[in-house]
Order: sequence, then structure tokens, then C-alpha cells
Amino acid sequence: MANDQEKEAAARASLKFVQEGQVVGLGTGSTAAFFIKLLGEQVKNGLNVRGIPTSVRSLELARSLGIPLTTLDECQEIAVTVDGADEVDPQLRLIKGGGGALLREKIVASATRQFIVVADASKQVKKLGKFPLPVEVIKFAEALAAKRIRALGAEVQLRLEADGKPYLTDENNHILDCRFGEIGDADALARELNGMPGVVEHGLFIGMASVVLFARGNEIVELRR
Ligand code: 5RP
Repeated sequence: MANDQEKEAAARASLKFVQEGQVVGLGTGSTAAFFIKLLGEQVKNGLNVRGIPTSVRSLELARSLGIPLTTLDECQEIAVTVDGADEVDPQLRLIKGGGGALLREKIVASATRQFIVVADASKQVKKLGKFPLPVEVIKFAEALAAKRIRALGAEVQLRLEADGKPYLTDENNHILDCRFGEIGDADALARELNGMPGVVEHGLFIGMASVVLFARGNEIVELRR
């Protein structure tokens, strides 16, 4: 519950970055959902924005709240995106993808001028890697990619649904949750995964976050890169 209050407070603090007339990237996850709900209230009060959702879940939520939507087909420049994170380090490098939307999230973030991360205080870490790194793979390459990632020192697990079937991303791929423990060199690991055939995307977001808003109790801490 305390976490939920912090998530909502961080989401609320991000509203000041959204201006009239902008195209806004809509993140995925419970903290991003608070942002989408708050944005929906602003839209009801007359704010004119168009959203680009990073997942089917966020699209459905935004649509249910009456937020006008657009797509990357129509618009390739996004003024501001607000999204959550699973871990944030002091250089504002992130692990994302706990909610399974890392591929669309990274695409939207890459087209965004100001990428705002909203999080409760538990997401702030000195070193990335306690949270298992999500790696999205095409099914054909799954076993090979898992073997190669194990060779980098991770324990690798295919993400499953509650019924035991593999989790399917919005792009119909699988996710490998990769436990590295503390990641010594996140930049090098990102490069390694970028070059791995069959890996569609990974959850290391490096050099992307412009601002991180952490809520700690009633206080909001704003970090800028
Ligand atoms: C989804 C994500 C989420 O932003 C991340 O998992 C944080 O989620 P939450 O706000 O529910 O803690 O990357 O792919």
C-alpha cells in the first residue's frame, strides 16, 4: 500500500512535464498505470494530448479513459514519455521489462525527447542486477540465446504464465528472465546482448532516461542525467 502511494505520487509529479498539444508515450506497469489514470483526468479537464501506448494493456486503459491515441505510423516524434522501471542506478541506467513490455517501451523511449521514469523508492539501487534482466527472444532462437546468456554467467528462466504456458509478448515473442546478480559492466552486457542473434531486445535502458522521479514517503526526489 505504501508502495502504491509512492507510485501514485511519482506519477503525479511527472504531470508537470506534459504540455498542451504534445504527443505523450504511455508506459506500462502499475506505476505507469497511475500516470495514465492521472493523465485521463487532465484530458477530461480539457488537456489536449495524444498518447502512444507501449503495450496492449496501456492502450486499453488509455482508451477506457478517453485519452486520444495515435501510433508510430502517424507520428515518429514523441515529446515526452512517462514509464516505470524495475531498477534505476545512479547513472540513471534502468532495468525494465518486469511487465513484459520492454520491446515497445524501448522503441517508444528511443523516439522520445524527454523520457521520464517514475518509481517508488524500492527501485533505486547502487548496482543493477538484483532484478532478473528480461530478454525478449524470438521462439526459434530461444534455446540458443538461453545457452549463450548462461555462458555470460546468468541463471536463465523462460517466463511462464500461471497456467505454465510461456508468456507471450505483444509482439508474440518469449521472455528469458536472466539472473546475473550484480551486473559489473551494464554497458558491456548491453552491447553483448545487442549483438546476439535471436535476441529481439533486452531490458537494459542505457542513456535513455532524462529524468527519474522517485517517491520516498511524501518526498519526491528528482534526478536528471
Ligand atoms: C514493464 C515495465 C515496468 O515499467 C516495470 O516492470 C515497473 O513496473 P511497476 O511500475 O509495476 O513496478 O518495464 O515492461
